[in-house]
Order: sequence, then C-alpha cells, then structure tokens
Amino acid sequence: DTNATQDSGDGGDSGELIKVGFSQLGAESGWRTANTESVKASLTEENGIDLTFVDAQQKQENQIKALRDFIDQGVDVIAFSPVVQTGWDEVLQEIQDAEIPVVLVDRTVDTTVTDPYATWIGADFKSEGVKAGEWVKENYPDAKIFELQGTLGSGAQVDREAGFDETVGADKILGKASGNFTRAEGKAAMEAALQAYPDMNLLFTHNDDMGLGAIEAIEAAGKVPGKDIVIVSVDGVRDGLQALVDKKFNFVVECNPVFGDQILDAIKKVYAGEDVPKETIVVDATFDQTITQEEVDARPY
Ligand code: AHR
Repeated sequence: DTNATQDSGDGGDSGELIKVGFSQLGAESGWRTANTESVKASLTEENGIDLTFVDAQQKQENQIKALRDFIDQGVDVIAFSPVVQTGWDEVLQEIQDAEIPVVLVDRTVDTTVTDPYATWIGADFKSEGVKAGEWVKENYPDAKIFELQGTLGSGAQVDREAGFDETVGADKILGKASGNFTRAEGKAAMEAALQAYPDMNLLFTHNDDMGLGAIEAIEAAGKVPGKDIVIVSVDGVRDGLQALVDKKFNFVVECNPVFGDQILDAIKKVYAGEDVPKETIVVDATFDQTITQEEVDARPY
C-alpha cells in the first residue's frame, strides 16, 4: 500500500473524506435530473464526501461495470439506484465479499443475497399507484384505461402497476405498453395505443415525462388531452404540474426526487458503523387541477 496517510478508521474524525461510488441509473426523465442534482449538491467535499458519480444510461450492464469499478477502487461506501429489480446477485455478492456497505437509492432490488444493503431510501411506489387508482375510482369509475408503463422490471414500474391495477380492477384496463420512462418513447407508445384502443378515455402513466410525450400523440390524433383522454401521472416535476394548470393532466401523484441530504446522512452513519433504519420512505403529496400557476412557478425542479 503506497498510501502513507492511513485512515484511523474512526469514521472520518481525522478529517478525511469518505470515498463514495454512486451509480445513477440514467438521465431518462426530469425526475432523474432533479434527483442527480440533489445527490451532487449533498455529496460534496464540504460535507465530507469524495464522490465518484457514474451515469449508466439506463443499461444494467453499465451499472454492474460501475459497481465493479467501485470495488476495484476500494471506495468506502457504494450508493446506487438499480435500473431494474433483478440480475444483481453476483455483483451484490462481490460487494459484500469486499465488505463495502451499500446505500440503496430510489428503486429496489430483488436478490438472493442475504442482507444486500445497509439501508434503502426511496418512495413507496405501490402506494403511489394506489393513490392514482383511488382518484380514478372516485372520479371516473367507468373509465376505459390505457397504462403507460415505466422501464419494465424496475421497482417503480412493477409496484406502481400493482398498486394501480389492484385498486381500479384489472377489467378496467384495455391495454398497456412501456415507454421506458422517457418522453420520446411515451409518445411513440401512445401513438400506437391510440390506434389499437380507440375507446380509451383515460391514461395512467407511470411518470410525467411519458405523459408529456403522450399529450403530443393525443393532440396529433385530434383529441383533447385532459378531456377526451383524462391523464393521471406520477412524479410532479414542474412540466407535469404545468400540464395540470393547462388542464392537460388531471391528477398527479408526487414522487419526490430531492433527498440528497437523507442519502448523505445515511452514508455517514453507515460508514461510522452506526445503526440505520432498514428503509426510509420519502414522503409524497398529490396534486389536481386546483394547483395555481404560482405554485408551479415556485417548484424547484
Ligand atoms: O424510480 C423513480 C422513477 O424513475 C420516476 O418516477 C421516473 O420519472 C424515473 O425515471
């Protein structure tokens, strides 16, 4: 070891920075951009962190490579937001063998590895789907629904879909297709769906970006978003809330991306060997068309 100044291992009291490898899954949506900004604003040298941040561009193989690089670099803590739930067994085992604690961010994993992470911070995706479903059940009980799914196999897709479908009843759903959480793919999937399901009168989209893409497809088909096709979305980024003010979206369940400070806190505690809760749920609100332009303008992301 050529490193002459070795850490005393006392949790950073010596003034050394905690080396953190953060694998972000991509930059697919406004939500993700806001989440990345929040992470970078919190995991700074001033806050005691030496951050290596890698964007996987929505590809699991890129993420696995980044995680292996972090092991090779000997980081103190690994934080990552997994693009999909499964396929992590091997790399999680390697991280565990290297004795590097993991802080799981946003999306969830489904793995055979025991105790794969020290702590997870994210939103309750299932309850987001339930909230969207309850609004639909109450306001449009006879809706003919099309569902735009997020990245297939991601925690956000699987759980939002389960929560929504259970609440409205599977018989209300005419069809589903994935738009991979992006505006462009949301638009393309909606174009095809408008042809395939001409009776549809309500869209449930797993995020705002796909819903914003869908608006373009709906208008291009000569229909009125928010009227001919009611739109229920998840996220609450500024563009999504603007669509509520413009009466093109009808209801939005928030998914709050700004929790960099909570990630920082978890990293410090995990590094110091302190107790951390197994999970921390980020609190979400809901919005309807009573939202004002002032509230939208004040939205930080
Ligand atoms: O995992 C959170 C989801 O990922 C957000 O709802 C979506 O916008 C993002 O792409």
